[in-house]
Amino acid sequence: MRPRRSRKLEARLEALLAQMTLAEKLGQLNQAHGGTPENKALVGQGRVGSLINLCPTDCPDPVAVYNSFQEAAVKGSRLGIPLIIGRDVIHGFRTMFPIPLGQAASFDPDLVCQAARVAATEAASWGINWTFAPMVDIARDPRWGRSAEGGGEDPVLASRMGAAMVRGFQGDDLGAPDSLAACAKHYVGYGAAEGGRDYNTTLIPEGYLRDVYLPPFRACVEAGAATLMSAFNDLNGVPASGNELTLRRILKKEWGFDGFVVSDWASIDEMISHGYCANRREAARAALRAGVDMEMVSPCYAEHLPDLVARGEVPLDWVDDAVRRILRIKFRLGLFDRPFIEPRPGVLLNPAHLATARRLAAACCVLLKNDGVLPLDCGVRKLAAIGPLADAPAEQMGCWTVDGLARDVVTPLAALREALAGRAEVTYAPGLPGARSTDTAGFAEAVAAARGADAVALFLGEDAGMSGEAHCRAFLDLPGAQAGLLEAVAAAGRPVVVVVMAGRALALPDVLAKSSAVLYAWHPGTMGGPALADLLLGAESPSGRLPVCLPRHVGQIPLYYAKRNTGRPARDEERGAPAGTPLDPKDFTSRYMDVEHTPLFPFGFGLTYSSFEYKELQLSSPAIGRDDALTASIRLTNTGRREAVEVVQLYVRDVAASLTRPVRELKDFQRVRLGPGESRRVEFVLRSSQLAFHGPDMKLRVEAGEFRLWIGPDAARGDSATFALTD
Ligand code: NOJ
Repeated sequence: MRPRRSRKLEARLEALLAQMTLAEKLGQLNQAHGGTPENKALVGQGRVGSLINLCPTDCPDPVAVYNSFQEAAVKGSRLGIPLIIGRDVIHGFRTMFPIPLGQAASFDPDLVCQAARVAATEAASWGINWTFAPMVDIARDPRWGRSAEGGGEDPVLASRMGAAMVRGFQGDDLGAPDSLAACAKHYVGYGAAEGGRDYNTTLIPEGYLRDVYLPPFRACVEAGAATLMSAFNDLNGVPASGNELTLRRILKKEWGFDGFVVSDWASIDEMISHGYCANRREAARAALRAGVDMEMVSPCYAEHLPDLVARGEVPLDWVDDAVRRILRIKFRLGLFDRPFIEPRPGVLLNPAHLATARRLAAACCVLLKNDGVLPLDCGVRKLAAIGPLADAPAEQMGCWTVDGLARDVVTPLAALREALAGRAEVTYAPGLPGARSTDTAGFAEAVAAARGADAVALFLGEDAGMSGEAHCRAFLDLPGAQAGLLEAVAAAGRPVVVVVMAGRALALPDVLAKSSAVLYAWHPGTMGGPALADLLLGAESPSGRLPVCLPRHVGQIPLYYAKRNTGRPARDEERGAPAGTPLDPKDFTSRYMDVEHTPLFPFGFGLTYSSFEYKELQLSSPAIGRDDALTASIRLTNTGRREAVEVVQLYVRDVAASLTRPVRELKDFQRVRLGPGESRRVEFVLRSSQLAFHGPDMKLRVEAGEFRLWIGPDAARGDSATFALTD
């Protein structure tokens, strides 16, 4: 929920602002890096308003360091304005949860919210006030290493996940001692980097920006996000950190956002490299004019705003607006009233936190294939755990784990051994020393382990360093010699369950072909091992669903379900013809000659250990008016023998509109848990506003006409019906 403006708070803020010198105001706009003595001195002089990364992870007494810096601010500086101290608490603090892309696969905003709450509680115990999360950049190109950090390809799913994280980080009361201010990032379009190469240019028509890239930020603002971060990318020729349209006009004016915007790391300075500003002086002016309130790390504001304001080239109003916003968040965080903290032993890695991490890691895993080998609950006396990621604690945490420690991680090998103790033997052979290794010396041992076992759990994928910032890939297959390892192990003739740990959507047709079952676990975090043991051994049924399409080949990228149809859509039966095959005239459609046009698995896909039947789709009416809502429902039955969760998904297509619309758009989803044989009618209420898109005037519009609706298990299937929207 957006916080309501408090008159009392605004009055305190204005009274403080009235006392501030220009230098003190500019100090609030300045975020410095690290807990150095120089920075402490600047804090005492009121020249730094925020710090990023105050202490290293191995700091012996973070609470004392925090309090000493707050003391420099509160007791040392003339007006006693407290610092706001930020850190990248991206998917956990010490208890690491799955990477955010994995969290999105849970389709479970409540659980994601709980995880963010845990992260906030742990981080706040160190004196951290502010996290640079959630990242809500829509990413439709898995080559981009940062696709790991966001909520996937779909604006509705990413919005729900982003808002859930904001609620979790900020809690019910931003002023509570265990709350962090959230920061929705990277505003905006950063995920559309050309070629999937980090920091690269983005070209996004404004309507598309508003329909696809902006909604998750809007959702975070509506959920009350205290701050946003302006991105590195050049957006349509104007860097995001100097972009008046997106910052000043859309975020602050149209949406009425009253928190503050921090630049990404040196992104103001980088407007010089972009070729948008000639020097730091111009960069400072452009960023402040655009609406960036605080500068992260680079010195453009600190060096140039004093003179720019003195000469009247930057109006004082711009500065005051930024200071007001920053102070407002400091007030809302309760920092003026409660600047110091007490040690809170027992918070980090608390058993309840680990239990949440285990639940979320299990909910994130997506079962892609199962020929019946899973769950491994009977008959397996000897299990071979093979692969470079079976026992690789640091890799299992994934990217952006600033404070996560490998020693806290429980790997699948350890968890399987514990779970099967006394029941079955677990042998282990890594096969390869690391995910990227091409050293095949360990293959023989791995093959022998496979031969000597009843079944194989083969842990393949990417190490933690293959995704995240600046870690982009041009290939989407298994790195190193892993394909060879799979082949060798599969040749041993035992059922092979492949568990994929990865920071992105990989293209794995061969893995699918050579295995009995495939479970996509992303990088599942501290409790990934026990969660995987729960799933592999059947204590839990997989319930994750893909938050992105999985491609067949990197050449299909960008690949996302909400595409436009084109004038010549490929037909389903056109499965790709060998290169060089002469085309029949009817085959002049939008497809490839050498790979199918469809993904290997569509968005929303995921199997369980049960089966579900959808039937009796019903609409409340064949037509609705502009102010009406439509109720769509379907009977869902668990037709299998196990309790399981089905993620029921509602999609819509606007059949003909004044601007072409995607072939399908996710509008809503529900996780439904049913016992064997149990049946329930699942109901969705679709408001006409959910059918809106931005017209050429950049205003939201809902056009009368025919709509098609699907309720089903993923973006490629479902029962469908049509309805009309009438004027
Ligand atoms: C740069 C990254 O782009 C951003 O996501 C992060 O929050 C900042 N650095 C601070 O570490």
